[in-house]
Amino acid sequence: MDRDNVIELLTKKDSDKKKSRIPARLDFLQSATGLILALFISFHLIFESSILLGKDAMYHLTKAFELDFIIEGGEPLVISVLAFIVFIIFISHAFIAMRKFPASYREFKSYQTHRKILNHEDTNLWFIQITTGFMMFFLGSIHLYIMMTQPEHIGPFASSDRVYSDVMWPAYLMLLISVILHAGVGLYRLIIKWGWLDRFKSKKIIKVAIIFYLIIGLFSLMSYIKIGYEHRDNYGQKYHLGMEQK
Ligand code: HEM
Repeated sequence: MDRDNVIELLTKKDSDKKKSRIPARLDFLQSATGLILALFISFHLIFESSILLGKDAMYHLTKAFELDFIIEGGEPLVISVLAFIVFIIFISHAFIAMRKFPASYREFKSYQTHRKILNHEDTNLWFIQITTGFMMFFLGSIHLYIMMTQPEHIGPFASSDRVYSDVMWPAYLMLLISVILHAGVGLYRLIIKWGWLDRFKSKKIIKVAIIFYLIIGLFSLMSYIKIGYEHRDNYGQKYHLGMEQK
């Protein structure tokens, strides 16, 4: 057993002279989990921008996610379960991707030098992925933890109170920029890798998508901040349908 491991370590092939399939499988798992997360975030940011259509619109959507069309009044536990599933995929994706991080100062320096000399686009993109991925490690985990443990505190007032009074907006701002860049660059690399579209077309589509999501994300965040600011003296008060017109 140990002997086999040593052989594989030295020759990069196992005792039957076969290359391990594990790296290819890890690569596939990384792409698959990344694709699921990119799809998730593209819907998430659209749903979450429902606040731009008004408080009632966001309230209805939140209740729909709590399955209020089946369960009277909705069940926030549904959100906890959803957040837990996303959390598992998120952590798995990050764990598999960790192997691409530079492991020492020497590795990092060697990479930096390559980047400067070559100024090759793909190398620069890899740098964006590493930096934004690292930021999301923390910011995404904090956000998902809150969603898992306080699913009843989602809504036009509860979310805005969190964003403004609980001072989550700086974290959301950094998370928003990181996740959009990370998902955009990740999808671009997948499209190229699997040959779905040529470089020129995919670059154009991804650039448009990044700008679109940054605009709706930033406007949504501003809207949550504005509502949170106006609601600061009533922190904790729940939203009811129709309050907006009053
Ligand atoms: C099922 C899991 C998730 C749920 C239920 C959820 C829910 C929410 C909600 C309700 C908000 C509005 C603000 C608030 O209430 O605090 C929000 C904002 C946000 N979420 Fe999530 N989220 C989930 C997963 C994620 C993940 C995995 C990411 C990225 C890694 C993410 C990124 C963001 C960002 C960037 C914002 C701020 C958006 C903006 O500024 O427009 N979320 N999320």
